[in-house]
Parts: sequence; structure tokens; C-alpha cells
Amino acid sequence: MTTLLPTTERPITALPKVLFTKNFSVTSAQLAALEGAPYEVWASHTDPDHGMLAAAPHTFLEPRGLLGDDYAAWLLSACTERGITLVIPGKERERLGHWRPAFAEAGIALIVPTDEATQRHLERKDEFLRAWDASILPIPQWTTFDTSASFEDGLKALNTDGVRLCVKPARGIYASGFRVLMERPDLDSFLKGELYQMSVAAAREMFAGGALPTMLLMHTLEGAERSIDCVAWQGRLIRAVVRRKGEQGQRLEDRPDLVAAAEKIAHTYHLSGIFNFQTKDDNSRVPHMLEINARASGGLRYSMAGGINFPRLLLDAATGTLDWAALPPVRTGLSVAEDKVVRVLGTADLAEAEQGEPEAAAG
Ligand SMILES: Nc1ncnc2c1ncn2[C@@H]1O[C@H](COP(=O)(O)OP(=O)(O)O)[C@@H](O)[C@H]1O
Ligand SMILES: [Mg+2]
Repeated sequence: MTTLLPTTERPITALPKVLFTKNFSVTSAQLAALEGAPYEVWASHTDPDHGMLAAAPHTFLEPRGLLGDDYAAWLLSACTERGITLVIPGKERERLGHWRPAFAEAGIALIVPTDEATQRHLERKDEFLRAWDASILPIPQWTTFDTSASFEDGLKALNTDGVRLCVKPARGIYASGFRVLMERPDLDSFLKGELYQMSVAAAREMFAGGALPTMLLMHTLEGAERSIDCVAWQGRLIRAVVRRKGEQGQRLEDRPDLVAAAEKIAHTYHLSGIFNFQTKDDNSRVPHMLEINARASGGLRYSMAGGINFPRLLLDAATGTLDWAALPPVRTGLSVAEDKVVRVLGTADLAEAEQGEPEAAAG
């Protein structure tokens, strides 16, 4: 028979403390998904009203304006002070690539996606596409330009009957600067609110205007777009969820070919953590690679609806407690939608509210 010690004398087995640092608001979904998991969950952010802090049981504020190595040094001492042993960084995750050994020496596992150079490589779409292994997935024909003359050269070089060209900056997120080029301005699509089109003439005028960042000119892929959310540990894929984007919601698909691509990507770039890549089909339904984001996508919640607890799998892998032979299955074939929620931040100043007419009109 076992005798129970009085509560006060029972050995306390402390849960590992994990910190999520300043990141996009979708990180709140990861924090919420860790409820009940054997981790003590912490979040830090510069903005006291940020959703990440509302979603975590333990929080602290980050100082504003700290960057690079100064931020890394501050983070190391903030973690040491609190006994945090696992860190999933958002802010400065590239620079933190260099800091893994210093954190390890303090007994802290810093979970960066990969080394700094590889993270920067993935963010430069021109560098990334140039080095891309097309045996994993094909890519559309493309070139770069950074002057009006090289834009004209690109137009000639990529000109193919029946293929629309498109532009986007080599460095950007959220489709900023992406436009499909139209031979003539299209009034119908303008009136329908199509934001991602531009006439070749308007593009010429704009690119003649001054110094350009490195831009990509590409063949436009006209088929289905997919986003693949993945979690990996030290180059080994744990799980990938393939979602096809649609007008109404998204669909979780069974695509062994894209899961195989995810495995190769995790291995090639030696990725650890939650990452995402995007594909678009050509007219023959062949998926082509668009980009890899070495971070969680804004749409991670959709993929979590497929029964995959991305942060839990990651933390279990990082602490050596993941049962690789009994990974949860991905529920495919589901249609999923995301609902908006509103959070009360505090009481509003009435005088200020009266001035906010444009917002009130839009709301
Ligand atoms: N070659 C292309 N053909 C068709 N659509 C594209 C192409 N490149 C980009 N897009 C569209 O633009 C969006 C943004 O491009 P992406 O490469 O993902 O850059 P980012 O998300 O970093 O801005 C994609 O989600 C896709 O809808
Ligand atoms: Mg993208």
C-alpha cells in the first residue's frame, strides 16, 4: 500500500516553463491550445493590450525599442530571472539564431526556426527561388528587375501567349506589392474591387518613378492556392496540414505529395518549429512553390481545426517527450471557417469616440 505524504511534503515536480515572445496576434491561438498541457506557459509583448498577453496565464512586458543583440541579451536575462527553460521567439528570431549556444549554456532551449543566414535566405524571394530545388516542387518562370529598363527586358523575356505576368517585391509579406499585370485597364474588375490588378501602362509609369527595391516579375499561376502549415523538429517533419483557400472558408485536404514536399523542406533548411509554405496550381493543376515562411502563418487556426496541436507537438519534441510513433492523425476533408471575436480592452474616452466618425461609419 502506498502512503500519501501530506501535501506540503510531496515533492513538487515543476512544469517546464515556456515563453512565447512578441509575435503576431495568431500566436494567441497557440497559447490557448496549450491549456492543460504539461507546461507553464508565459508570454511577453511590448503592448500591454496585445492578445498574446490576454491568452497566457503568465506574462511580462518587453521594453520598447530594443533590437538585435541588445534585445537578445535582455531576453536571456529575463528568462534566467524567471526560470524559463524553453523560448519560442517571434521578435528578432533571425538574429537570435546566433544566440542558441549562449541560451543553452544558461539551460534554456531557444527554439529558432533555423540559423540566421538560412532565415534571411528564405525571406529574400529572389535568392530563395534561384537556389530552390525544383525536384521538390516546380516554380513559375520568373526574373528580377530594379529599373524601368530591366522591367522592359523582363516583359520581353517572359512574354508568352495566354500567360499573364505579375510583379511582387523580393521582400514583402501579406501580398504587399503583388499585382497581376493587365494589357489594358479593366473597368469591370476595378468596380468589383479587385485590388491585385494593374495595367502594364500604370506599372511602367510607377517603375519609372525612382529607385526600386529588387522586384520579381513572374508568370501568373491561375489555379488553386494552398497554404501548408507544418511543425518540425531539427529538420524532421512532425506534421503538415494542407489547406486550400477558397472564397468561402478553406478546405483541409489529403495531399501526400505536398506532405512529402513539406518533409523535404524541413530537411533541406533544417527547420525547427512551426513554419508554412504556399503553393499555387498552374492550369494543369500542378502545384508550384511560391514561398516558405519560417514562422507560423496567419491562418494557423484553420489547420489546428484538423486536430493538430502544433505548439504542443513542438514542445514535446523539444523536451524529448514526443512519441514519434503515435502522432495524431490529420483530419482531412473538412471545410473550415474562422470567426472574428471582440475583446474589451477597457473603457473608452467618450470625447474621443465622437470624433471617430470614419470608423463608426465603416463599423
Ligand atoms: N506567380 C504567382 N501567380 C499567381 N499568384 C501569385 C504569384 N505570386 C504571388 N501570388 C499571389 O500573391 C500572394 C502573395 O505572394 P507571396 O509569394 O506569398 O508573398 P508574401 O505573402 O510574402 O507577400 C500569394 O498568396 C498569391 O495569392
Ligand atoms: Mg505569402
